[in-house]
Amino acid sequence: MIRLDGVTVRYGHGRHAIVAAHGISFSVARGAAYGLVGESGSGKSTVLRAVAGLIAHAGGRVELAGQAMPANRTRPQRRLVQMVFQDPYGSLHPNQTVDQALASPLRVQGLDGGEARIAAALREVGLGTEHRFRFPHQLSGGQRQRVAIARALIVAPRILLLDEPTSALDVSVQAEILNLLTRLRREHGLTMLMVSHDLAVIAHLCEHVGVMQHGRLVEQTTADALAAGAVSHDHTRDLLLSNASFDRRV
Ligand SMILES: Nc1ncnc2c1ncn2[C@@H]1O[C@H](COP(=O)(O)OP(=O)(O)OP(=O)(O)O)[C@@H](O)[C@H]1O
Ligand SMILES: [Mg+2]
Repeated sequence: MIRLDGVTVRYGHGRHAIVAAHGISFSVARGAAYGLVGESGSGKSTVLRAVAGLIAHAGGRVELAGQAMPANRTRPQRRLVQMVFQDPYGSLHPNQTVDQALASPLRVQGLDGGEARIAAALREVGLGTEHRFRFPHQLSGGQRQRVAIARALIVAPRILLLDEPTSALDVSVQAEILNLLTRLRREHGLTMLMVSHDLAVIAHLCEHVGVMQHGRLVEQTTADALAAGAVSHDHTRDLLLSNASFDRRV
């Protein structure tokens, strides 16, 4: 469902250019979940932005659902993949109600039946109709992240990109959101690509893991191998050590 082949992303031009992703290649099968880990600044969000089509890549190919993505994606190609960010406070507009936040992607995609779709999307993420006309500041952090997930799912994408989706939340709320994502993935056959600095969060949702360092994918492994400490790259070992409390009981 996702295939990256030698994807390179540069920010800036000339002498000031930074290569934030160097020749990244990996693939994620339909319905699978792949986790990207690595230190701050290693290029994880950059890879997600390239998959989402939010930034142009200077080299390589991004294929989604078997189609090579062009520089300017068509509306159906944009619908294929939706993204959820770390901070739902930042990603939801403070002056927009939940209803408005959910109506906007439907408008962009030219989808009708808004009324029923909004009610269904709220139900899917476990929010009642009483939340529909609230503003972001009238919701808890976990509820805001549920709204952000509903907004991503309302256009029925096949791929969900998650950039630190639980790191702004309390531990108990984190587990609820991870359980919600696990259920949604199963029910919708979604393919997921998730960034987290927390290996336990990755292991909860993902079967496969890619480790990034300085813009490169330095190791690819499985969550099981990671949990067993069976890693080959020194940097992955360092990450395991810095996640000392990591085990699979999230
Ligand atoms: N818009 C931008 N313009 C210039 N440089 C950028 C831009 N966005 C990111 N970078 C740089 O690219 C590199 C990779 O950034 P990226 O955001 O992908 O890292 P990350 O792995 O997601 O880090 P974090 O864990 O802190 O979110 C960093 O050196 C960063 O400073
Ligand atoms: Mg990031």
